[in-house]
Amino acid sequence: MSEKATNIHPIFNQLLQRSDKENLLHQKAICIWMTGLSGSGKSTIAQGLEKKLHHNGILTTILDGDNVRSGINNNLGFSEEDRTENIRRIAEINKLFLQTGIVTINSFVSPTKDIRDLAKTIIGEQDFYEVYINASFDECAKRDVKGLYKKALNGEIKNFTGLDAPFEAPTNAVLEIKTAEQSIEESIETIYNFFIKNIKQM
Ligand code: ADX
Repeated sequence: MSEKATNIHPIFNQLLQRSDKENLLHQKAICIWMTGLSGSGKSTIAQGLEKKLHHNGILTTILDGDNVRSGINNNLGFSEEDRTENIRRIAEINKLFLQTGIVTINSFVSPTKDIRDLAKTIIGEQDFYEVYINASFDECAKRDVKGLYKKALNGEIKNFTGLDAPFEAPTNAVLEIKTAEQSIEESIETIYNFFIKNIKQM
């Protein structure tokens, strides 16, 4: 690692404010932060939610574990330290979008309270809405969309969330969606109805 930069003068308080961008877009920017096990349905819900918001005139962006980890965070693994760095960078990216008036839809396992608190602290409590996409380990293992549970249970993946790495269920989520108990369409409807009033500006 090279030395940390000094003499940095951020220029974020320029003429155009976040509210100017929000007014241009007729929306309030918020961060929707989905947490849950791999395969719980976060990415699918994110995509459906984005589509629905888009059709209703809301500009959004999706930030998703698998995508971010194949790009900007492709040097990170799944140790506690790397997961923390993963989320720290993602939280900073969130800030840039929010500052531009754009709604962010995040789907990251973000398995511990500390990691989610870090995101909340960086993004700002007033903008950060935690949503628990709840499906049990057994349910996710049964779905095994990406074949990762099979590999993890065979010992081919180390530090797998819910198996040999922890998942702490959130205790202060604003919304919980149990994807084994409702359809994808119902889940998308639930999350859309919950947030649209916080986003839409007349
Ligand atoms: S986080 O823990 O740092 O928040 P993130 O959401 O970015 O995780 O990435 C999780 C995705 O990486 C999972 O959906 C899965 O596809 C993949 N993955 C690969 N290895 C692991 C692992 N050991 N634990 C959890 N997810 C893993």
